[in-house]
Amino acid sequence: MKGLLLAGGYGTRLRPLTFVGNKHMLPIANKPILLYGLEHLRDAGITNIGIILGPLREGIVQALGDGSKFGVKITYLEQPEPKGLAHAVLVAEEYLDNESFTMYLGDNLLRQGAKPLVDVMQKNESDCVVAVTNVKDPSSYGVVVFNDDGTVKNLVEKPKEPISNWALIGVYVFNNKIFDAAKKIKPSWRGELEITDAIQTLLNDGARVDVQRVQGWWKDTGKPQDLLEANQLVLRDLIPYNKGRIEETATVTNNVAIGEGTVVHSRTTIRGPVIIGNHCEIGPNAYIGPYTSIGDDSTIRNSEIENTIVMEGARIDCGRRITDSLIGRKVEVQSSENNVPKGHSLIIGDMSYVTL
Ligand code: DAU
Repeated sequence: MKGLLLAGGYGTRLRPLTFVGNKHMLPIANKPILLYGLEHLRDAGITNIGIILGPLREGIVQALGDGSKFGVKITYLEQPEPKGLAHAVLVAEEYLDNESFTMYLGDNLLRQGAKPLVDVMQKNESDCVVAVTNVKDPSSYGVVVFNDDGTVKNLVEKPKEPISNWALIGVYVFNNKIFDAAKKIKPSWRGELEITDAIQTLLNDGARVDVQRVQGWWKDTGKPQDLLEANQLVLRDLIPYNKGRIEETATVTNNVAIGEGTVVHSRTTIRGPVIIGNHCEIGPNAYIGPYTSIGDDSTIRNSEIENTIVMEGARIDCGRRITDSLIGRKVEVQSSENNVPKGHSLIIGDMSYVTL
């Protein structure tokens, strides 16, 4: 079986963070979102993986290379325009070469990984396996409607009427029947070839579509708030370590992971779950609260930070408390305390937003 990992699209809902980079490379607990999917495919025994690259691809090839670092073989596939998930399948048709494959949407994170779907496919000799979870508001997802006997009745992409609370999550297993189905469908109202419509076509043609109900949490990281929630979910399972140095008067409690060359200076409190990358300076006079991830080469002094993602190379020295925030690479946040006249001085890019 092969893997197909999708990293195309524009990531417009995550601007400004996606102006300068691909959304799939944004870090959750200091690891790019895309790596979670790659590792889940590998852990399901899939080592030949095609990655769909779209118009914004900064950092992906540099970080993943040929995959050997991660124990897989990566082939990059070009999709110049995000014309839909079924379009991405057709872009990969030659690469997939009639083999069964697991398609993993690169912006999805799920605790159980991909293996449970692969197991269902092998056990039932299915033509397709989809995964679902119960959600309160299904309007932004594809949904599955069930028959009374638990088999699939039909599938609808982003239903306007509340017809089912069983949302399709972003992992699918297919055999080669999906290629004909994807060729039969027409673009949806949003101009995309929807994978949900292609799976409906499989059903109409009498194919066997099985459903796996997802165990554990799932997160589609389309919006900024989703990144913070995903960060919380991943940090809940954090295994603590200390590869750095903690000075005597610093206090570190709960699960905290501290990277190589990082120093936690005096009069600093870290209350986990917190992950801190390599070569950071934390403190003096800093508080790092639960659900915070701090990227490599960052400096945090005289500041309090909680429930926040701080990306690589940030410098924060502001005498304030920062919560529920996403702070991009090499961002500086300083104090205006000694400035006269007093005021907030902002140099922020297009479409940024700030709560003062
Ligand atoms: O997250 C689960 C949902 O994902 C499902 O419930 C929906 O049925 C499914 O259509 C999909 O909906 P989204 O609207 O959330 O998909 P999105 O456009 O965000 O794209 C999902 C991923 O696939 C994302 O990592 C970008 C990538 N992608 C997307 C398109 C449209 C591509 O690589 N190529 C594309 O053409």
